[in-house]
Amino acid sequence: MDLYGRDFICTQDWKVEELMAALELAAQMKRDRFSDRWTSILKYKTFLMFFYNPSVRTRISFEAAATELGGHSQFMTPSAGRFKTQTKAGETIEDAAQVMARYVAGIGIRILEDKVPYYGAGDEMLLEYAKWSNAPIINMADDRFHPCQALADVMGWAEWYGEGPGRPDFEALRGKKFLLSWGSGALARSWCSVQAALLIASRLGMQVTMAHPEGYDLDPEVIQWTKQNCAANQTDFEVVHDPDSGYDGAHIVYSRNWVSAAAYQDGALQKQAEIEKAMAYTGWTANGERMSKTDNAIFTHPMPVDRGSEVTDEVASGPRSAVYDIAENRLHVQKAVMALTMGL
Ligand code: CP
Repeated sequence: MDLYGRDFICTQDWKVEELMAALELAAQMKRDRFSDRWTSILKYKTFLMFFYNPSVRTRISFEAAATELGGHSQFMTPSAGRFKTQTKAGETIEDAAQVMARYVAGIGIRILEDKVPYYGAGDEMLLEYAKWSNAPIINMADDRFHPCQALADVMGWAEWYGEGPGRPDFEALRGKKFLLSWGSGALARSWCSVQAALLIASRLGMQVTMAHPEGYDLDPEVIQWTKQNCAANQTDFEVVHDPDSGYDGAHIVYSRNWVSAAAYQDGALQKQAEIEKAMAYTGWTANGERMSKTDNAIFTHPMPVDRGSEVTDEVASGPRSAVYDIAENRLHVQKAVMALTMGL
């Protein structure tokens, strides 16, 4: 299997065996973190990180990944350039991408929902970069997908249902019940992480339940892919509109806030209106009582966690919380993706 030069924008673009190759390599890299096998893979190579939005985990883990592979990461924001936008003349993506690709081994881009005029425009931008760049484009979270988060999530779940850190059992996830629940709160969050989780969970053979208030539907195309993934694995996909029933028998609980399907008006994300709308739905919180109805489920979240709204402290810091393991896995899966697409 040759993944050299491949973009990583959405997990659906990669075959299951390609995703598994990255996940298995990530587990090896986690078990033997500073082995000579990895520390020169990106020697003398640079990974460009182009951030339109802030980040803690993504920036630090990609920088650390480049360092641990023997390479270098370079940080850039849009203010460093003179890029063309809908309202401003400037450098086109065609020109920027072709030039950047002559300097670096790979380009990571983050652009979230508040930086684009309509849903999907951020993902379209990454696809445009991918069209013109000879170096692979790595999605560091756009307004549709967060594929590196998805790999880290599923690696963490497979470690918890396997033999612990660095020893994931992906087969053990088959048939497990994955609950993705909308979470209360005033953050008006992106769809990227939850959509990425739906796709990877269904792709790896899990039963999927989605719980959200009316009006908080996600991207119909992503839901269609999720249904297709479930059908291919002969698993079920269901949607419920109450904050309790999805917990029954769940093995993995993911509670996170996201914006409604009507978040964009007049060419912009209406963040304040979304926050006010979400205030009508208090009580969509993963708590101990709800977790007690599960099959001893683990709690998963991409972080940053909105404690007290999406999840109680008791659950987020409890004995079945996988959140820090998953955050750590961002480093390992990104090292694997970078090694496979830029180094080997
Ligand atoms: N999960 C995640 O992408 O975190 P950051 O926004 O801090 O990078």
